Amino acid sequence: MLKARLGVNIDHVATLRQARGEHYPSLVDAAVTSLEAGADQITIHLREDRRHIQDTDVGAIKLVTARYGKPLNLELGCAEDILAIAEEIAPDWLCIVPEKREEKTTEGGLDLVTKENVDKIQRTIERIRKRLPSAKISLFVEADPQVLNKCIEFKVDAVEIHTGDYAKAFLNGEDLDKYFTRYAVAKKQIKSHNIGFHAGHGLTDESVAPLVERELFEEYNIGHWIVCQSIFYGLASVVTKLKRTILGDRQ
Ligand code: PXP
Repeated sequence: MLKARLGVNIDHVATLRQARGEHYPSLVDAAVTSLEAGADQITIHLREDRRHIQDTDVGAIKLVTARYGKPLNLELGCAEDILAIAEEIAPDWLCIVPEKREEKTTEGGLDLVTKENVDKIQRTIERIRKRLPSAKISLFVEADPQVLNKCIEFKVDAVEIHTGDYAKAFLNGEDLDKYFTRYAVAKKQIKSHNIGFHAGHGLTDESVAPLVERELFEEYNIGHWIVCQSIFYGLASVVTKLKRTILGDRQ
């Protein structure tokens, strides 16, 4: 059985903190607790509107992940000021995501078809490669052959497939076969170029299980559901249980 990794996205711990402008709940404690409970990496998204993660969180969380010898995965758009922070802190992974200020969350993968967008993303990749040569780059994309070809052309280290539609279909009790087929085809395309195949968005312990069973992805980045469940069961216990699911040891 493929041993997939669990990236715990702690953005929404910061959402709670920002709701009151207090210094709690502590992002550092959330990262420590997640790593102690079995998270393989910490993921955060520094958004243009700073609605949850703040600039100073990036360096603070990097200190924690470095202490645990685990990667920090920073999701970011192509904004100049955010790239400058990334260059200063040097996360282990940079996951480039689309960002529209008015959206509730990241809605869909990167547009790698429109020339203007492709050029912007290419410039961002080149800039990261030049200024952070040891950082790994992933692109958050749909499982679409044309889009994936562009990722292959860019020679990125990984793609993170947007699983939002799948996760919604799961919750609605829809037939999921088309997603499993689409992901399996995408995996074949990507793995033939030795590029990492990650997944993220909207996943829960229930909806991730069929993906794990089919050994579709090497890494899952999950956030909102973890933080919501933590209200009832505590962060450590939610992460520990989810890690077991990701390892295919569901009880
Ligand atoms: N991966 C990416 C690229 C994302 O943008 C997000 C949301 O910030 C996630 C994973 C985590 O999604 P969720 O919070 O819905 O689990």
